[in-house]
Amino acid sequence: PPGAQRFIPPDADTIDDLRTAAGGCRGCELYRDASQTVFGRGDESARVVLVGEQPGDMEDQKGLPFVGPAGRLLRRAVDDAGLDPGHLYLTNAVKHFRFELRGKRRIHQTPDQAHITACRPWLVAEFARLRPEVVVVLGATAAKALLGPSFRVTRQRGELLPWPESAQHPADFEQVPVDSAGKRADAPEARLLATIHPSAVLRADDQDKAYEGLVADLTVVTRALP
Ligand code: URA
Ligand code: SF4
Repeated sequence: PPGAQRFIPPDADTIDDLRTAAGGCRGCELYRDASQTVFGRGDESARVVLVGEQPGDMEDQKGLPFVGPAGRLLRRAVDDAGLDPGHLYLTNAVKHFRFELRGKRRIHQTPDQAHITACRPWLVAEFARLRPEVVVVLGATAAKALLGPSFRVTRQRGELLPWPESAQHPADFEQVPVDSAGKRADAPEARLLATIHPSAVLRADDQDKAYEGLVADLTVVTRALP
């Protein structure tokens, strides 16, 4: 069967266990051309998890999420929003870099719904181990993974939302991991907040305004955490 689920060992208790297993994932074709799996990183007791789209060129080379230009901007925004950078976990909806070769250049390509669906078991497994209080959805791809295809970031950004039913019981969560307490691992008691992707700030006509919007949305998260 396609998808990442069969690559997740049932006894993968920690994020490190998951990261190791994800290194061998062939749940969709993206592993073929990318250099390596780029798994999430950060504080394993993080209260806030930020979910991006997919690794970029730099992330693909380094094997770490958010180490390129978008990551730099995101870290500045996190700082300006007053979120403690030491208590965050950063990850992506899709864990291999999708690109198109133009000459020697690797041009970013947005992942398809099939890649998002294939890769979602890793995200679900990360949430199950981290049990965050707030999940921040950065941009449309992460929103598709967690809020479904009809969610519009531009209209529903900056609002704390309850964990959506659609993220709890999607049709492709047949083999939902259950933790030792028998709790469905895909149902964290987290709230969710959508905002724009840091790359969208870099592409915006009015970068300052877009940046301020991102910071304002992230500040909603800061205020929600006692
Ligand atoms: N953009 C993302 O969505 N994720 C990264 O890790 C880097 C850039
Ligand atoms: Fe597996 Fe996700 Fe990579 Fe596809 S993108 S091979 S599902 S880790």
